[in-house]
Amino acid sequence: MPGVHGMGPTLTFDGSLHVVWNEKRLRYFAGTDYHRLAFEPEVQHAVQLALQQQGLSSGGSRLTTGNNATLVQLETLLARFFGVEDALVVGSGYLANLILLQTLRPDFDVIIADEQAHASLLDAARAVQLPVSFFKHRDVESLKHTLNGIANPRRALVVTDGIFAARGEVAPLGDYWKAIAAVGASLLVDDAHGMAVAGERGRGTWEKFGLSAENLYITGTLSKGFGVFGGVILATHVLKQRIVEQSAAFVGHTPMPVPVIAGAAAAVQFLTEHRERVHRVQQAARWVKQHLADVGYAVPQDAIPIISIAFPEAERVGKFRDYLLDAGVFPPFNQYPGAPAGGHFRFVVTSRHTEDDMHQFVEILKRFRNA
Ligand SMILES: Cc1ncc(COP(=O)(O)O)c(C=O)c1O
Repeated sequence: MPGVHGMGPTLTFDGSLHVVWNEKRLRYFAGTDYHRLAFEPEVQHAVQLALQQQGLSSGGSRLTTGNNATLVQLETLLARFFGVEDALVVGSGYLANLILLQTLRPDFDVIIADEQAHASLLDAARAVQLPVSFFKHRDVESLKHTLNGIANPRRALVVTDGIFAARGEVAPLGDYWKAIAAVGASLLVDDAHGMAVAGERGRGTWEKFGLSAENLYITGTLSKGFGVFGGVILATHVLKQRIVEQSAAFVGHTPMPVPVIAGAAAAVQFLTEHRERVHRVQQAARWVKQHLADVGYAVPQDAIPIISIAFPEAERVGKFRDYLLDAGVFPPFNQYPGAPAGGHFRFVVTSRHTEDDMHQFVEILKRFRNA
């Protein structure tokens, strides 16, 4: 069974919608590249051109020789995409939370985290030696209770994923925000899976819930909805300058290779010009989830393209895996943190899948249910 113990299965991509696994070419309804921008010709062309003209390494910290013009351009494009004053690109999404918390450390005494918050948020809190209190997963009453137990909530930072990676659950940010604003606390949303996916313009879960405020911080990644690699912090000019001055991790790391930066810039540009892809992925998610629910799968009715399917009986897991393989579909089984006990199949529909792909996907899953 792939992904049960240790590493996931060894895969080779074969175009944007197939993988090869154990010498078998299989349809791929999985992963985190929610628009398959890794395969978009504009993105690939930008990577190739940058490689030819600028080589591979970005050549140093941004405080020395690593402040590449393509990186600065990427930040301008990201600020425009997200409709914010500025953006800071860093080496990875994982690093983004550390860099931000190193900078904000003097402003806070305590972190209040969803009990299933991503490891990068918790590692960052530990690294800057901020104590962490937990609230129950996606539970606003529990958050309120935790906030009420804090001596000075104005110096508390609530941290959560916008969309939880494993099951695609959405954090109820609207309710959180009311509770947070009522006591003057602050909120950090790691929107790795919300960026380019959630909200009217794909700006993320904070757009979906209509949030914007000074004490709201957003981090994310370029490796999922944007299909490339790298981390991002949405910022004001002032916050960006603070990060440059105060985060040792920011100062001490080399940005992504220039072709990767150029690919990310092309991906952001592409989605800015093709916002319909954001609507498409949301429609695809709604359509597939509704049709799966109609035949009895327990999936939430939302527009998030992550579809988690679990079976309590281990025997049925094996049967489903074999059935998918026979049907020519990669079985994306895993036990990644946040997955239900016993693991789950984490499917994904993308804006690149055609209607026909989606019909076939639903049909295949339907047949298993009815068998
Ligand atoms: C919620 C969340 N935050 C951060 C990360 C890390 O991002 P990156 O892969 O760019 O380091 C991930 C996944 O990889 C994630 O799911």
